[in-house]
Amino acid sequence: MVYDRIHTPNKYWGLIDEIFAGKNKIGTKPRVLDLGCGTGSFLAGMHERGWEITGLDISSGMLERAGQKFKAAGIPCVLCQKDMADFHIEGEFELVTSNFDSVNYVMDIEGIERLFKNVHAILRENGVFAFDVVTKYQAQNYVNPFKKEFEDVRLEMVPHYDQTSNIKRLEIDIVSGADRAKEVHEQKMYDLGDIGLNLKAAGFSEYKMMSIEGKTREIMDSSTRVYFVAVK
Ligand SMILES: C[S@@+](CC[C@H](N)C(=O)[O-])C[C@H]1O[C@@H](n2cnc3c(N)ncnc32)[C@H](O)[C@@H]1O
Repeated sequence: MVYDRIHTPNKYWGLIDEIFAGKNKIGTKPRVLDLGCGTGSFLAGMHERGWEITGLDISSGMLERAGQKFKAAGIPCVLCQKDMADFHIEGEFELVTSNFDSVNYVMDIEGIERLFKNVHAILRENGVFAFDVVTKYQAQNYVNPFKKEFEDVRLEMVPHYDQTSNIKRLEIDIVSGADRAKEVHEQKMYDLGDIGLNLKAAGFSEYKMMSIEGKTREIMDSSTRVYFVAVK
């Protein structure tokens, strides 16, 4: 699957291990739910760390691929097909994550509000919700078409950002030999302050924001991707 080649979670793990290792360790075998888990790249890393993994995604194709990978590797994983803006899952989790800007696929602030309330409801006391978003800065400034070339396939990407609706649109042409397929992705860009307000309104007692880029993790006007860590 082409998707697995462009989404590699390596740059996140430094930050995730920084947050959840050492004195911040979240238990010996935490139960983790990954929202927008895609083909399960992050879940596989979580399993390697001894965590008990559940994945949720809206796409049957992504979940099918994740299921195949876990079955082949003999990794136990619960997978469910649901919309992260409207979900409930039985059980209690120590950690809920959402990575690679999956939260930006929730297209309105009311959906974000429901998402945060649902996550809060399934976290145990002091449980953590950790997720990233891409920023308006990224959407406004990364608008030039670009390509990614692999041995057998080429991806031609054309980004576009509508500053009125705050919707970023990415058209992807997937070219392999004489075959050409098109995908269109739409994401909503949110003010970081509005995300914080909604975390508080959902009942999270505290949250911090960290940049995925740079050693200091400091948020700057030019940050393209921000990681939120909220505590119930
Ligand atoms: C950019 S991908 C990231 C996938 C995965 N987190 C990773 O890092 O490889 C976004 C994922 O979010 C999923 N998604 C989009 N909207 C969703 C929604 N409303 N509820 C659940 N999953 C959603 C997509 O199907 C896709 O798998």
